[in-house]
Amino acid sequence: MSERVRRAVCPGSYDPVTLGHLDVIGRAAALHDEVVVAVLHNPAKAGTFTVAERVGFVEHAVAAAGLAGRVRVEAFADRLLVDVCRDVGADVVVKGLRGGTDFAYELPMALMNRHLTGVETVFLPGEPSFGHVSSSLVKEVVRYGGDVGGLVPDEVRDALVDRVRPPG
Ligand code: PNS
Repeated sequence: MSERVRRAVCPGSYDPVTLGHLDVIGRAAALHDEVVVAVLHNPAKAGTFTVAERVGFVEHAVAAAGLAGRVRVEAFADRLLVDVCRDVGADVVVKGLRGGTDFAYELPMALMNRHLTGVETVFLPGEPSFGHVSSSLVKEVVRYGGDVGGLVPDEVRDALVDRVRPPG
């Protein structure tokens, strides 16, 4: 008798991935048979990194963490998260929460997603040492000359310096 594969989706913009994201992805992988990291994007909006770059950063970090067998990374343009979940055969969304502000932002989306198709959202408490880490904050820090080592993969830190720091 074949057992059902427990597959979860970790969705986000990942522009770029941070070590906070990777902590949640790794913990989601420990709780499920497979994790699909869904890089969701709107083609009309230019991000800091291209979708291919975002996917590549996550793939490299996942491989470095020894998780490539259990975690795959896919990009989706202009899609509802619930449709992504249906397409990849996942009935659970996993999100990390850094605190109450994240919860206030995530709760209506979790309820809407459950309303739409019944997909459940599981919240993992964010690792406290990454509680101050977000894609937007690391970009701002790098833009004004700060160091984000230890908050994003080294490859991402170097790419951020090239991409967002003004020359000079
Ligand atoms: O990394 P982010 O920007 O916090 O990710 C937000 C994201 C992409 C997960 C969220 O905006 C989303 O699920 N977008 C897909 C479109 C969708 O399903 N919208 C309705 C949500 S109830």
